[in-house]
Amino acid sequence: MAKIRTPRWGWALTGSGHFFKECLRMIGNLDEVDLFVSKAAREVVRMYRQELKLPKGARVFRDTTASAAPVGLFYYGVYHTLIVAPATSNTVAKCVFGISDTLVTNVFAQAGKCRVPTIVFACDTAPELETEAPKGMVKVYPRSIDLKNSERLKSFESTTVVETLEELEKTLARRKSELHV
Ligand SMILES: Cc1cc2nc3c(=O)[nH]c(=O)nc-3n(C[C@H](O)[C@H](O)[C@H](O)COP(=O)(O)O)c2cc1C
Repeated sequence: MAKIRTPRWGWALTGSGHFFKECLRMIGNLDEVDLFVSKAAREVVRMYRQELKLPKGARVFRDTTASAAPVGLFYYGVYHTLIVAPATSNTVAKCVFGISDTLVTNVFAQAGKCRVPTIVFACDTAPELETEAPKGMVKVYPRSIDLKNSERLKSFESTTVVETLEELEKTLARRKSELHV
């Protein structure tokens, strides 16, 4: 088995269709990445008829344990950066209120506690959005609570909240150049 090179990227996928395919493509272009996949994300991958085409050496952690066992990796410096993209309003709300009862909310919490810089691509950032449903583009109108939660997340330590795919790409590129990877 290939040796796992660290520190590496951690990427948490949630069950959001918002730029889901684009995020999968971005993961495919990273070297040295581990994926943390929510239960909903596993279903959404299938609904959008996507396949996880992962770079060599990538590991996939699924949400199968109550204690979110893989979070232990954060204590040992395995990750230089966590990316949560795309992030559902559900996951953002839980993160904002300090709830960690799923794999993804746990990796977010543990990254924070281990001071691992985190980038969150929040989906609900404007009162009106066009998003891709499995059968094509649809309009959604995020509620005030969803918008407030995305805003609240911006005040978290070591957390960068991005609102568009372009911003995610730029923030990722900036982090790559900081890390020289
Ligand atoms: C096809 C599909 C697309 C979805 N897209 C979104 C989305 O863009 N934003 C969102 O907040 N929830 C979306 N959801 C709902 C979430 O999957 C649902 O709230 C789930 O409980 C989130 O769990 P997670 O945050 O643990 O991944 C979508 C669901 C489906 C079936």
